[in-house]
Amino acid sequence: MKKKFLAAAMAVVMAASLAACGSGSSKETPAADGKETPAADGDLITVGYAQVGAESDWRTANTESFKTTFTEENGYKLIFDDAQQKQENQIKAIRSFVQQDVDYIVVAPVVETGWETVLEEAKEAGIPVILSDRMMQVSDDSLYTAWVGGNFEKEGETCANWLADYLDKQGRADEEINMVTIQGTIGASAQVGRTQGVENVLKDHPNWKMLDKQTGEFTQTKGQEVMESFLKSYDDIDVVICENDNEAFGAIDAIKAAGKTCGPEGDIIVVSFDSVKAAFESMMAGDLNATFECNPLHGPRVEEIIQKLEANEEVDKIQYVDEAFFDTSMDLESILKERLY
Ligand code: AHR
Repeated sequence: MKKKFLAAAMAVVMAASLAACGSGSSKETPAADGKETPAADGDLITVGYAQVGAESDWRTANTESFKTTFTEENGYKLIFDDAQQKQENQIKAIRSFVQQDVDYIVVAPVVETGWETVLEEAKEAGIPVILSDRMMQVSDDSLYTAWVGGNFEKEGETCANWLADYLDKQGRADEEINMVTIQGTIGASAQVGRTQGVENVLKDHPNWKMLDKQTGEFTQTKGQEVMESFLKSYDDIDVVICENDNEAFGAIDAIKAAGKTCGPEGDIIVVSFDSVKAAFESMMAGDLNATFECNPLHGPRVEEIIQKLEANEEVDKIQYVDEAFFDTSMDLESILKERLY
């Protein structure tokens, strides 16, 4: 099923010529009654997914999205690998997918750099690589077929602009504001982009002081530890920017344990990224001020890319997902009822 792919991988740039050269492997075969039925086992499209890990609520929703999309009933065999937040594990997983001769490799890369060699191996084997969620920095972008995910830098800018507006409404626009950031995994595009986005806006606010930045590895436990250490080092923190919701939950625990308060009525403004259901509960409890969305439901988006490649259709190389933000001025209870993750 895969060998047709060397050509299909180039569909991005050569869709027209490919239309003539490839038999797309179909995941469905017509039944005697004319209705489409799932293909026999041998016709399943094999997808290897090299997942980052299980570090956050967001990641759990992302894994679920892939597992519910790439099912046998839908015509797929999914080989799922949890890299436990280690790049070396993801590289091993990709090599194993190549050895297993899968039809497609999907990667949510832990960090942005260091992928060239293994992607060359996948290319050599004629297996298309689709990036999902986080981005890779590679010298040759033909090493991957397409990417779909959030615009992390924009998320950071939206967050900092929200903060400016919020402080302005509180009459604190000209006040000296002390901030700290609990960053994500250093080198992950979600960390790089969000940090950069906040810095872009920070330049326009000379009265905002970034006291410190440290990684919380996108986990609640590490978020709590980092906030504990910030609170010991700085006694006048006005804002903590957490690069995901789970870090914020840990930071909130640390703030309370230190005898301080947070949220709209508290001492410290807490903002975070992802907008998972628990973040809505935290805002409704008065702990978290705002959350900036990062949509994890990439399973169907990656499936759409695969189906287009199967049909030798052109796919957009870079696909950004629309994202919103939520704060305590909104009707959170109603919004939460509609949330899928
Ligand atoms: O890459 C997306 C980020 O990764 C999410 O913000 C975070 O929760 C996850 O670990």
